[in-house]
Amino acid sequence: MTRGRFITVEGGEGAGKSTCLEFIRSHLEASGRRVVVTREPGGTPLAERIRDLLLGHHTDGMADDCELLLVFAARADHLSRVIRPALARGEWVLSDRFTDATYAYQGGGRGLDMERIAALERLVQGDLRPDLTLLLDLPVTTGLARAAGRAEAPDRFESEAAAFFERVRSTYRERAASEPQRFRVVDAGQPLEEVTASLAEVLDAWGG
Ligand SMILES: Nc1ncnc2c1ncn2[C@@H]1O[C@H](COP(=O)(O)OP(=O)(O)O)[C@@H](O)[C@H]1O
Ligand SMILES: [Mg+2]
Repeated sequence: MTRGRFITVEGGEGAGKSTCLEFIRSHLEASGRRVVVTREPGGTPLAERIRDLLLGHHTDGMADDCELLLVFAARADHLSRVIRPALARGEWVLSDRFTDATYAYQGGGRGLDMERIAALERLVQGDLRPDLTLLLDLPVTTGLARAAGRAEAPDRFESEAAAFFERVRSTYRERAASEPQRFRVVDAGQPLEEVTASLAEVLDAWGG
């Protein structure tokens, strides 16, 4: 059986990842793909518990390396129990964030050594990388204003300063520029109908 395709959606807070996920799913399903929609951190019951640890506020804080290892611990469970089995069944996997987010948040945002992240990526993923990564790019202030409009209280990451998110955005853009065959950058500052039209265009042109 042909292995499915692995598509990830990336971008900063309020970029519209969660909003666009359903559009992408239905666009792919309309062309006959079977699609598993998932997210990181999370995607399995155990990884969702790790997500709660990562996003929750801790009065004592959290060491940066603990955060990094928890991200990859969650990813290991997600990969072995959801992503790899689905791809092996020929299904397409669509994930709201994946390892590019680790480079952007833990590498760019927190300033952790990118080489150490790359070592964990090899350890946990082996050769597995997304086939296509859709980067929803928009100015930090626009994204934060959108995220502030959501009902939930700001999580541990959303509570970071604007400079943190500027580093997150630059890291995403640098990664996209360095891997143009895998990344497609979509201007997420447009009205939603224009963002989804751009996504449809990108997906049709890519084809899988
Ligand atoms: N293109 C857009 N224009 C205006 N508002 C948007 C757009 N895309 C998403 N939103 C709104 O911005 C907020 C954050 O979107 P969301 O999908 O939760 O972002 P993310 O998952 O990337 O953090 C939501 O209230 C959503 O309705
Ligand atoms: Mg979201």
